[in-house]
Amino acid sequence: MATASPITIQTVGVIGAGQMGSGIAHVCALAGYDVHMSDLDQTVLERALGLIDQNMTRQVARGRVKQEDKDVALKRITIGTNYDLFNATDFVIEAATEREEIKRDIFKKLIPHLKPSAMIASNTSSISITRLATSTDRPEHFIGMHFMNPVPVMTLVEVIRGIATDEPTYQSVRDLSLKLGKTPVGAEDFPGFIVNRILLPMINEAIYTLHEGVGSVDAIDTAMHLGANHPMGPLALADFIGLDTCLSIMQVLYEGLADSKYRPCPLLVKYVEAGWLGRKSNRGFYDYRGEKPVPTR
Ligand code: CAA
Repeated sequence: MATASPITIQTVGVIGAGQMGSGIAHVCALAGYDVHMSDLDQTVLERALGLIDQNMTRQVARGRVKQEDKDVALKRITIGTNYDLFNATDFVIEAATEREEIKRDIFKKLIPHLKPSAMIASNTSSISITRLATSTDRPEHFIGMHFMNPVPVMTLVEVIRGIATDEPTYQSVRDLSLKLGKTPVGAEDFPGFIVNRILLPMINEAIYTLHEGVGSVDAIDTAMHLGANHPMGPLALADFIGLDTCLSIMQVLYEGLADSKYRPCPLLVKYVEAGWLGRKSNRGFYDYRGEKPVPTR
């Protein structure tokens, strides 16, 4: 079988200006790509630009990025609420809310604006790439590109091929990951891929450990930080990822693999019901409203 060559990417589109979308725009702009970023809300886009500026400033202060590279990179990012922005992009990465119906709706609206050769990736952390691809007109040019949070710091990208994804698309996304300074790892399209299939059951088990009173928030996090050398304990990490995202990934594992070992801990469900979603809502397993995070249990 002849192997077609990878498609060259010069401009990147990013849909969704939240934590992940802004991180993706940040690393693409620093790597020299022109970036078009869209969101429903202009205020969210402006806040994302501010966050990118702030995070790049932090990299300049630590000597990781030169001031002039930061200045040029920021100018490479354009923002807008309309998909016309993507008329000339070679590659669009969707990083919207982790809900399948929202992503499907985005793809339907996006397709009429894309040139025929444009590739589309989803940064989904757990939804089937094969299934998402069916809401586009180009399943062969559709792929999963899963970045880790915080994107500028974490060097892994999971690259997930759907059943229909062709080889040039897969190779282009691997090449792009390398150009962004990341290490791509191929994962098959099964619930949670690799990282979340392993990481989220660990976090869920930490929440069961709390629920059953085996240890306090502080004891559990200190135990895993010092006892397993994790950079942050599992409950602090859950707050960092977002408890709603953790719950939705556990639900995908539970339903997609039909195995009771993935059942979400009822305490996780309760925190989400309370709107205590972690750092983004200022409260989760820790309360972030004061100067220092305080355990909530
Ligand atoms: N942008 C740019 N740089 C950042 C940053 C950001 N948003 N956040 C942190 N940094 C940089 C800092 O400037 C610092 O740089 P230097 O090494 O050059 O000094 C470095 O990262 C470390 O930061 P800090 O000193 O502020 O704090 P820390 O040492 O406590 O590290 C952390 C913070 C990087 C978040 C670290 O605690 C960590 O690695 N935690 C685990 C993160 C993790 O597991 N992420 C994966 C989550 S799972 C996921 O994302 C998949 C999913 O689908 C749910």
